[in-house]
Amino acid sequence: MMSRITVLPSQTQFDAESGETILASAIRQGHNLPHACQSGVCGSCRARLLSGKVSHSGCYDDYVLTDAERESGMVLLCCSEAEGDVELDMPGYSGSRAISVRTLPARVGSIDVRGDVAVMEVVLPKAPAFKFYAGQYMDILLKDGSRSYSIANAPSQNDKLEFHIRHRQGGLFSPLLFDGRLESGSIIRLRGPLGGFTLNENSSKPLVLMATGTGFAPIKSFLSHLAETDPNREIHIYHGSRTEAGLYDRESLSVLLQQFSNARYIPVLSRPNSQWQGAKGYVQQQVLADISDLSSYEVYACGSLQMTEDARRLFAEQGRLPENAFFSDSFTVSA
Ligand SMILES: Cc1cc2nc3c(=O)[nH]c(=O)nc-3n(C[C@H](O)[C@H](O)[C@H](O)COP(=O)(O)OP(=O)(O)OC[C@H]3O[C@@H](n4cnc5c(N)ncnc54)[C@H](O)[C@@H]3O)c2cc1C
Ligand code: FES
Repeated sequence: MMSRITVLPSQTQFDAESGETILASAIRQGHNLPHACQSGVCGSCRARLLSGKVSHSGCYDDYVLTDAERESGMVLLCCSEAEGDVELDMPGYSGSRAISVRTLPARVGSIDVRGDVAVMEVVLPKAPAFKFYAGQYMDILLKDGSRSYSIANAPSQNDKLEFHIRHRQGGLFSPLLFDGRLESGSIIRLRGPLGGFTLNENSSKPLVLMATGTGFAPIKSFLSHLAETDPNREIHIYHGSRTEAGLYDRESLSVLLQQFSNARYIPVLSRPNSQWQGAKGYVQQQVLADISDLSSYEVYACGSLQMTEDARRLFAEQGRLPENAFFSDSFTVSA
């Protein structure tokens, strides 16, 4: 059975086949609805069911959606199959089309180890030119699985990609960058671009761009893109880390910031040493302490699920941030 899906307010329409999640059918037909993990973990694909019925497929959403959200009709599209025609509200989706996903080889250019983060640059084949939206991610394909990493550069620099990769002890992929098994000149395989954490290009609202850890990667991609397209935009950049060593990209950020007329950077440490003079605590609390009324802002948050979900609720409840002005991406553990 085929179901007609309508997504408001963008008036996006597509058909979903039975046995297929609503998100999978959207992506298959080129609609880049917000998403990341595609497995019911990150919450990026939440939407409100306005009419019709959905059934839940295998993935687990009890943890992501609160009881109140579920009661208000909120569903995760990567875990929902349509049972007949369905109308959904997804205020954060402006109707952007997906860019075709490709699998391509890439040559590792440089690996710059900064504490427990490696900044890796890979060189792409020259033709055909690789296209992506700022904020999207790539899967690195491995013999025994794949790992996802956000692109940190601007889409205009499409001959290379920059990734920020945190060392996870005993991990399948990240240790390769720290113990020399992957080095400059190695060939890897990538698949992408993926993900719906992209900038709302139709808006000129002041921005809060916030990250914890390597969640800074897509934030840097946004900034590099905005430096070319909207350098006078009001932008507040927050980077949270436990210690100062986790602010691994400060030098390159300060060069980038010189291209903006109205941007400020606030590093926030949750476990600083006694010399630290800057902001202390959790990044989401610092945002609210600095900007108590977020009603005219757009917020983009990337990092741990705990931070993005806490920020979403805190900003809506205490900062008057509209539901359609919060965008997030979470670095969930690979299945
Ligand atoms: C959409 C998306 C984008 C991502 N982008 C980035 C990025 O830009 N930079 C980046 O560093 N990572 C990113 N990640 C996470 C990344 O895909 C891997 O999960 C991570 O690098 C671990 O892979 P690994 O093979 O090294 O370790 P694994 O083999 O996956 O895990 C090794 C051990 O570490 C634990 N572990 C893994 N990840 C986490 C975590 N997040 N928190 C706590 N424990 C963990 C595992 O449970 C396991 O015990 C992203 C994830 C998603 C879904
Ligand atoms: S919860 Fe659906 S994409 Fe992550």
